[in-house]
Amino acid sequence: MKKVYLDNAATTQVRDNVIEKMQDALANFYGNPSSTHSFGRSAKTAVESARKTIAKYINAHPSEIIFTSGGTEADNMILRCAVRDLGVTTIITSRIEHHAVLHTVEDLASEKGTRVLYVDLDKYGNPDLLHLKALLQKDDGKKLVSLMHVNNEIGNKMDIATVCELCHSNGALFHSDTVQSIGHYAWDVKAVPVDFMTAAAHKFHGPKGIGFAYVKRNSGLKPFISGGSQERGNRAGTESFHNIVGLEMAFIEAYDNLEAETAYVTDLKSYFIDRMKEEIPAAKFNGHSGDMDKSTFTLVNVCLPIDPQKALMLLFHLDIKGIACSKGSACQSGSDLGSHVLTEILSEEELKRPSVRFSFSKYNTREELDYTVQVLKEFVEK
Ligand SMILES: Cc1ncc(COP(=O)(O)O)c(C=O)c1O
Repeated sequence: MKKVYLDNAATTQVRDNVIEKMQDALANFYGNPSSTHSFGRSAKTAVESARKTIAKYINAHPSEIIFTSGGTEADNMILRCAVRDLGVTTIITSRIEHHAVLHTVEDLASEKGTRVLYVDLDKYGNPDLLHLKALLQKDDGKKLVSLMHVNNEIGNKMDIATVCELCHSNGALFHSDTVQSIGHYAWDVKAVPVDFMTAAAHKFHGPKGIGFAYVKRNSGLKPFISGGSQERGNRAGTESFHNIVGLEMAFIEAYDNLEAETAYVTDLKSYFIDRMKEEIPAAKFNGHSGDMDKSTFTLVNVCLPIDPQKALMLLFHLDIKGIACSKGSACQSGSDLGSHVLTEILSEEELKRPSVRFSFSKYNTREELDYTVQVLKEFVEK
């Protein structure tokens, strides 16, 4: 059966040379990086070299990179430690952040009494910067703003430089969940001086279960996990060595091929939008995902003109046809709470129709997209 993987915002296919690197690491570098013998020392050298590589590409200092188990841990670490160690009493965020941020701030509110304020969003899901400024100027203690660069469901790309500057000029710290943009966009932490950001290798053709937190030097954050002195004393636990070198390789490949791969995937997205407009003109792109300038080149989220009764069958039908994508819709069944992102920005009428997220990578082809549009069109017209 034909198989088409269009769920790259959920996770991506691992590059062949990343797999080779990791196999070599598992087979030959089994020393514990904390051991002082040669086996340990060579593993330690490779971990530190990976840290340096990542720092170099984003113009950071190696000590600012802390390897974690992925985006969720990095977001948790930053938000929880900012409250615990930096005296943050108010967190300003939005209701369309990833649950790694939203559930963490909710927990901080109930466990620590942290005040959580949500910035208003426009109908596309953009944060209202005048409202953000007003929240920042409220006189209620030390603040941290947490707003993502690229939204994982609707693809909106925030003007991170402007938001960063707004936070800093009002004395607030700024964290950005950059899990959907690191590996896809060039970064320079000197040009956009975020205090904290997060990454996950599996979003850019690396392994799952590894990522990093960027934590600006002298931030004052203390370790989140207690134990040994790994990660220069910043995160306890024996390093996931094979994952770290896999992350490094995926990172190098992503950035060394950034221009060509961005152009290729941008062409795919633009082609998909054009084909959808031709074949299913009543389909509507959610958020800014249909706008090539205001959204990431990696995904679209589309609301389809399908009866609510038929909607439940859509993903099942796509799956049968070999097409993997993600539901981007609101509540379709009793057991499913639906998308908190779409619930914030769509009308009640729109929420009754199914929305689907298609996300692309360098491994997709135009021919796969033609097939997908054809399958969708047949389903819509059935
Ligand atoms: C925006 C965003 N933040 C955080 C995460 C969590 O990352 P991880 O799966 O590495 O824990 C994801 C993954 O879906 C994401 O898309």
